Amino acid sequence: KPRLYSGMQPSAESLQIGNYIGALLNWKELQKSHDAFFSIVDLHAITVAQDPALLALNTRRTAAQYIAAGIDPSASTLYVQSHVAAHAQLAWVLNTITGFGEASRMTQFKDKSTRFGADATTLGLFAYPTLMAADILLYQTSIVPVGEDQRQHVELTRDLAARFNSRFGDTFTVPEVAIVKETAKIYDLQNPTSKMSKSAESHAGVIWVLDEASVTKKKIMRAVTDADGGVVFDRENKPGVANLLTIYSVLANRTVQSLEDEYAGRGYGDLKKGLVEVVTGTFDPIRARVTELLDDPAELDRLLAVNAAHAAEVANATLATVFERVGLLLPR
Ligand code: TYM
Repeated sequence: KPRLYSGMQPSAESLQIGNYIGALLNWKELQKSHDAFFSIVDLHAITVAQDPALLALNTRRTAAQYIAAGIDPSASTLYVQSHVAAHAQLAWVLNTITGFGEASRMTQFKDKSTRFGADATTLGLFAYPTLMAADILLYQTSIVPVGEDQRQHVELTRDLAARFNSRFGDTFTVPEVAIVKETAKIYDLQNPTSKMSKSAESHAGVIWVLDEASVTKKKIMRAVTDADGGVVFDRENKPGVANLLTIYSVLANRTVQSLEDEYAGRGYGDLKKGLVEVVTGTFDPIRARVTELLDDPAELDRLLAVNAAHAAEVANATLATVFERVGLLLPR
């Protein structure tokens, strides 16, 4: 089976619906046909300040959400990034072949460093993309399923793999990015031209997987639409409605056309009510399963440990080759 790699940051108590639709739903399908590795990237999360007690909790919660959403931890390798030391080790080597200018061009870094200001912009944040490249390259990955916002990081990963291979000899598989066009970017319900994000300043337009149904309902009923009134998919002129239709169509497994037909001549209120049913119908059972999984943290930790051991085996084999190619003296 071809190798697949993807990951998410444990940077909030709950994943948001963009993570669920843009990532988890695709992972769940792809894990059937791939040798899949999914990580909870805690080392990436600490590139911005985290509350230490919460970070550890959120790492478990993220693992529980992966499983509750359908990632099978006995078929796929689901593990915590910091449990496999090779990630940080390979990232260091990749830092030494990455140009300062090249790293400076990463738009996510530019956005975050503008948002946080110079004082909160750390070397760690700057090196975020090379750590991500290490994640992917350690596993000789063929495909990386992500949302649109991660495309540039995967492009950099490809460049670094090719550069290393040509400088030191064939070592890494050059990965392909896999982005599902329709769902690659879910937008904030209050601000439907910007990406929904775990780190959004206001949570009013963010649908959390673990929110109570009543909270989700309120947020959807208050979603920003437009004054035009027609339930029509038009990304340019009706971004709010287009976003609601996208979410609806994916979660209900229906075409946008069939939704436009069903809601033709009806108001946005009806569309939103329908969407509330679909979203809470999807997340209610996931939330219940997460609660169950978190009730037995020892079992969850055991699963993560077993999977980390498998991940480390694969990762360490690549790392040994890298160290040898670069000329680092092997320990005896
Ligand atoms: P993170 O934690 O920001 O997001 C996890 C995944 O969710 C996708 N995503 C979205 N998709 C659609 N609409 C949205 N509004 C939306 N918001 C987030 C992201 O594209 C991502 O696929 N750098 C990565 C984590 C990472 C990684 C990796 C991914 C670390 N190492 C190796 C792949 C391979 C990140 O910050 O994801």
